[in-house]
Amino acid sequence: MREPMSVPQAGLPRRVTIYEVGPRDGLQNESGIVPLPAKAEFVQRLVAAGLPVVEATSFVHPKWVPQLADAAELMELLGAEGRRHPVLVPNERGLDRALELGCEHVAIFGSATETFAQKNLNRGLDEQFAMFEPTVRRARAAGADVRAYVSMCFGDPWEGDVPVDQVVEVGKRLFDLGASQLSLGDTIGVGTVGHVRALLDAFNAAGLRDEVLAVHFHDTYGQALANAQAALQHGVTTFDASAGGLGGCPYADSATGNLATEDLVWMLHGLGIDTGVDLASLVATSRWMADILGRPSPSRVVAALT
Ligand code: HMG
Ligand code: MG
Repeated sequence: MREPMSVPQAGLPRRVTIYEVGPRDGLQNESGIVPLPAKAEFVQRLVAAGLPVVEATSFVHPKWVPQLADAAELMELLGAEGRRHPVLVPNERGLDRALELGCEHVAIFGSATETFAQKNLNRGLDEQFAMFEPTVRRARAAGADVRAYVSMCFGDPWEGDVPVDQVVEVGKRLFDLGASQLSLGDTIGVGTVGHVRALLDAFNAAGLRDEVLAVHFHDTYGQALANAQAALQHGVTTFDASAGGLGGCPYADSATGNLATEDLVWMLHGLGIDTGVDLASLVATSRWMADILGRPSPSRVVAALT
C-alpha cells in the first residue's frame, strides 16, 4: 500500500502519541448500534494496527448514550487486555461501574461553556466541578490514571465564540483536580490555526506545558489536519483522532467526525515522525467498519487507498 515519502523537518518531535477515540467518540454518534462483538473486534484491530491508546467506551447514563450502553459487556469481552484502555466516566456512578471491571484509565469530560454543560452533563458550568471532584479523587485513590477533556474550546453552537481566558480557566480547574493530561476539544470543529496557537500559548502561560496537553479536533469545517499541524509545531505530542474519521457528539449540534486517524498518520509519516501505526492495517480496519456502518469512511486517505 502506498505510503507518503518521509521528509523530516527540523524542530519536530521524532515520535508522537495518537490517542484513538473511534470506538468511543466515533460509535457514540452512530444512529445505529454496532453489535457488541464488532465493537470488541474494532478495539482489538486498532491495537493490532499499532495504536498505542484506544479509548474503548463510556460509562455514562445508558439512556443518554444508548450506543454505548453495553460498556460493561464490552470490557468483559476484552478481558484483562481491556483494562488498559481508557473509558469515559462523568461521575461517581460511572467510576464505580468502571472500577468494578478493573479499568485503569478513566477520562472525565467537562465543558468550557454553560450551555453545553447543561446539555451534555445536566449540570451548570460550576456544578460540573462538584461532580468531577470526588470522581477524580476516588479514581486516583483506586490507582487509576485520569485524563480530563474540556469541550467547546474554540466555539459553541449556542453561545458562539468562547473567550480563550474562559477555556483556560475551566481547563486548568479540571486538570488541577488531579488529571495527568488535558485534552482540548474542538467539539464542533470551528477552530483555525491562529486560534490553536493562541489557546496553547494561553495554557502555557497558565502553567500547563504542551507535554500535558492533547488536542482533539473535529473536522466539521475541514480544519482538523491544519490545526493538528499547528499544535505539532507548537510542541504538542498527543493527538486525538478517530479511525476513518468517525465521530461527533450527540449533545452538540453541528459536531461531525473527528480528525481521521489515517489522515493524521499520513501527515506525520510524511514528516518522518514515528507513530507506531501500520497504515495498511488501519485502513483495512476502517474499511471493515465502514461496511458494518453501511457508508463510506469520510477519511480522504481511506478513500485514496481503497
Ligand atoms: P443525570 O440524569 O443528571 O444523573 O445525568 P443523576 O446524577 O441525576 O442520576 C439520575 C439517575 O441516573 C440515577 O438513577 C443514577 O444512578 C443514574 P436512579 O437513582 O434515578 O435510578 N446514573 C447513571 N447510571 C449509569 N451510569 C452513570 C450514571 N450516572 C447517573 N454514569 C449524567 C448526568 C452526567 C450521568 C448524564 O448527563 C450523562 O450520562 N451524560 C453523558 C453525555 C455524553 O456521554 N456525551 C458524549 C461524551 S462527551 C464528548 O463527546 C466530547 C468529547 O469527545 C470532547 C470534545 O469533542 O469536545 C469528550
Ligand atoms: Mg469529541
